[in-house]
Amino acid sequence: MPPVELLKDIYWVGAIDWNLRDFHGYSVDRGTSYNAFLVMDDKITLFDTVKKDFKGDLLKNIRKIIDPTKIDYLVVNHVEMDHSSLVPEIAGLVQPEKIFCSEMGKKNLLAHFHTENWPYEVVKTGDSISLGKRTVQFMETRMLHWPDSMFSYIPGDRLLISSDAFGQHMATTERFDDEVDLSLLLGHAAKYYANIILPYSHLVQKLLAQVKEINLAVDMIAPDHGLIWRKNPGKILECYDEWSQQKSKLKALVIYDTMWHSTEMMAQAIMEGLVEEGVSTQSFDLAVNHRSDIITEVLDAGALIIGSSTLNNGMLPRMADLLHYMRGLRPANKIGAAFGSYGWSGEAVKLINTIMEEMKFRVLDPGIRVPYVPTEDDLQKCVDLGRKVAKALHEHV
Ligand code: FEO
Repeated sequence: MPPVELLKDIYWVGAIDWNLRDFHGYSVDRGTSYNAFLVMDDKITLFDTVKKDFKGDLLKNIRKIIDPTKIDYLVVNHVEMDHSSLVPEIAGLVQPEKIFCSEMGKKNLLAHFHTENWPYEVVKTGDSISLGKRTVQFMETRMLHWPDSMFSYIPGDRLLISSDAFGQHMATTERFDDEVDLSLLLGHAAKYYANIILPYSHLVQKLLAQVKEINLAVDMIAPDHGLIWRKNPGKILECYDEWSQQKSKLKALVIYDTMWHSTEMMAQAIMEGLVEEGVSTQSFDLAVNHRSDIITEVLDAGALIIGSSTLNNGMLPRMADLLHYMRGLRPANKIGAAFGSYGWSGEAVKLINTIMEEMKFRVLDPGIRVPYVPTEDDLQKCVDLGRKVAKALHEHV
């Protein structure tokens, strides 16, 4: 993908990763992009680099604009390897006068690359530098989503280079939000939020309050992944506000894994009860659904009814995987209930309840355990559980 001029003398020079399908456990079914930005000013400045495998793309793009050795400054907004693994080679080639990063950025660059002799220039929130015609202001965004993360803001262009925040894992030839379908883009942005930013929602709320307080004027948001928000920067800010509040909708998810279809029969009966009480409900069989797609739906669901057969005194392995992943992402404000069939021990329901309690779900019921194959009476109890959750959800939202 050739460079694209975002604003006068400000270029996207990143790379598109069409073939990526797994991002440390997050299924990226549309690939991703690694966005880097080159600002041509008295001090030529490169904001972030790309994943090491894409060195050729980055250098090819920069060379279409300028000899890379002419770059003066390198800004490292974030040290995760998808943006920084090329920093050592770029720093070696460019020999930048300064490398700007947060205090934690310096610490993490040292921890990754063990290079004491780089020309580090540590910046903190409120610091600004002059590139000549432009200034760049820095805003630390600790734990959004790493300790080193920061934003770079160019007030003259009202451009926010936002690192991972507001990104999407979506490989496209288009570079701007107004060049693709907005609902598709927002869907990928929601998936990205749910799988990466969700645990730090309280910090997103603080950051948005800070942005409001300083009256930050933003016409364009350029994240390090996916499309650049040119037409709808306000929309993605609004979505982050909504997602980070973790408000629940009148929406339930019935998530299960089943050994010989008994737990599946229970799931179907629970759904019947939920739907009868007017709750929008989605069913997720873990045999065919990826954890990161389920988490996307967890984002605004008010109730999660989770079921597993018992296997070897525990829950089925795919359910353990999902709950482990979900617990790390810390979804809040959920109603929970558990169910499952068993043969002779039946621990799965209790184990699911324990994890839901750890996640501070409001667990409504001890859950339903059924030996081997449910009877009509058992299935009626499942319908009743669905109704009970639905009624609680109506009061909850
Ligand atoms: Fe895109 Fe946290 O790296």
